[in-house]
Amino acid sequence: MKVLLVVTHPRENSLTYAVMNRFVEGLKQNNHEVDIMDLDRDGFNPVYTAEDERDWKSPDKQFSPEIRKEMDRIVAADALVFVFPLWWYSVPSMLKGYLDKVWNIGLLKEFTSKKVLWICLAGGDQEHLIKYEYHDMITHYLNNAIAGYARVKESKVEFLYDTLSESNEYIEGLLNHAYLLGREYK
Ligand SMILES: Cc1cc2nc3c(=O)[nH]c(=O)nc-3n(C[C@H](O)[C@H](O)[C@H](O)COP(=O)(O)O)c2cc1C
Repeated sequence: MKVLLVVTHPRENSLTYAVMNRFVEGLKQNNHEVDIMDLDRDGFNPVYTAEDERDWKSPDKQFSPEIRKEMDRIVAADALVFVFPLWWYSVPSMLKGYLDKVWNIGLLKEFTSKKVLWICLAGGDQEHLIKYEYHDMITHYLNNAIAGYARVKESKVEFLYDTLSESNEYIEGLLNHAYLLGREYK
């Protein structure tokens, strides 16, 4: 499979980045091809401008070369994977800007053959997220409000909880889980 992986975190030495690297290692072990879009280090500008707006009277409107290039990367991929920290029970603004600009409504027909995986790193533990209904809220938001609306074929959310833990053993377990997720990905 050809996987387009979109990652966001301001720091390259973050857990988010380490999770992404382990997941990619697993994917490669399973002979998947990976195209990595590193929103922060590849200089993506998340600010939506008038140039990014869809013109309903001109369905053939040309998008900026930067955005067209990202749309083409989606078209070329079989699966899209997002790796990101949970910020305010939502996606970081970099990723929100990517979705606003690149998952433009003009791409809808392209999504019907794609699968999406959201790998979300949460500082809170599983019990907390379930107790306050954030787990279901985020899952519903990503799978239905975003992927469902875009008519993605299959969308799944994978949470990695308690990411601020000071236990090296626990963090190693999360990284190993990320590797296995990549290796078992189909
Ligand atoms: C701006 C900001 C907002 C955050 N909001 C949440 C949140 O809503 N829920 C949560 O569980 N953790 C939240 N966290 C904690 C992050 O999810 C946590 O720092 C991250 O998963 C750790 O991975 P990292 O080391 O790669 O940043 C927040 C962190 C930041 C910096």
